[in-house]
Amino acid sequence: MKGLLTLNDISTDKIREIIDLALEFKHGKKFSYHSEKKMATMFFENSTRTHYSFMIALMNLGIIPVDFNSEASSVMKGESLYDTVKTFECLGVDGVIIRHTRDGYYKELENINVPIFNAGDGQSDHPTQTLLDLITVYEDFGHFEGLKVTFIGDVKHSRVAHGNAVAMARLGMEPRICGPDFFMDKTAKIIDMEEAVQTSDVLNLLRVQFERDATLNMTVSEYHQLYGMTKKRVDQMKDGAIIIHPAPINRGVEIADEVAECKQSRILRQETNGVYARMAVINMVLEGKL
Ligand code: CP
Repeated sequence: MKGLLTLNDISTDKIREIIDLALEFKHGKKFSYHSEKKMATMFFENSTRTHYSFMIALMNLGIIPVDFNSEASSVMKGESLYDTVKTFECLGVDGVIIRHTRDGYYKELENINVPIFNAGDGQSDHPTQTLLDLITVYEDFGHFEGLKVTFIGDVKHSRVAHGNAVAMARLGMEPRICGPDFFMDKTAKIIDMEEAVQTSDVLNLLRVQFERDATLNMTVSEYHQLYGMTKKRVDQMKDGAIIIHPAPINRGVEIADEVAECKQSRILRQETNGVYARMAVINMVLEGKL
């Protein structure tokens, strides 16, 4: 099993190499065509951006996507994750892209002999999201060293916060977290909202993950008032600071409607960068560079 399961498995030099290649793709580098290859996209948890940007990345590279629908599959008859993925290996795919609700689901797949690309596992990790976030930060700042990043909101349930904090720290950024006590964990130092807004170079907003049993213990309006990115807070940000968010966004909860596409917001750019991040990862794995 090769592929990309977590960025913890690869060196910071390799992370930088992926970022560079993604940006080369974005700026018109000729795509390496991998015609004749096929890869399965297997999403056992809902997704829009990751699912379809992986499919577009495959198509851009000339790879045929085989889109698996778990709801219409033998998973519904009780087939295990391992047996399902092994079946795709036997059918002749050259890789599998998997999102699953279980943390570290890929540990059950050690006997799979095609590359696995982790498209998000439980509350643990989302490596290609981290890469597209890093690309977006790099586009603005041209470096990582010394940048302060604050994860604001539901850190506890967020694989993005958990994965990003580790990778960003390895690249020299300073991660902090901010939000109500019941959403905080040991990911990084906790700071208050005022400090977060006024001192961060990167504000990494997070969605409240109601689907993972997150509860607010207050009204949405109170939460928005205490921890939401409002126009007033945007006006207090440092010059050059940016807002990122993995999306989907909850307008009126962690971010005000009028802020979602403001000058400082990079949310739409992140979605575009997701295609290039995924192209870079797939290309490097197929060329034996990852
Ligand atoms: N950011 C992200 O993973 O979005 P999706 O759940 O829509 O893929």
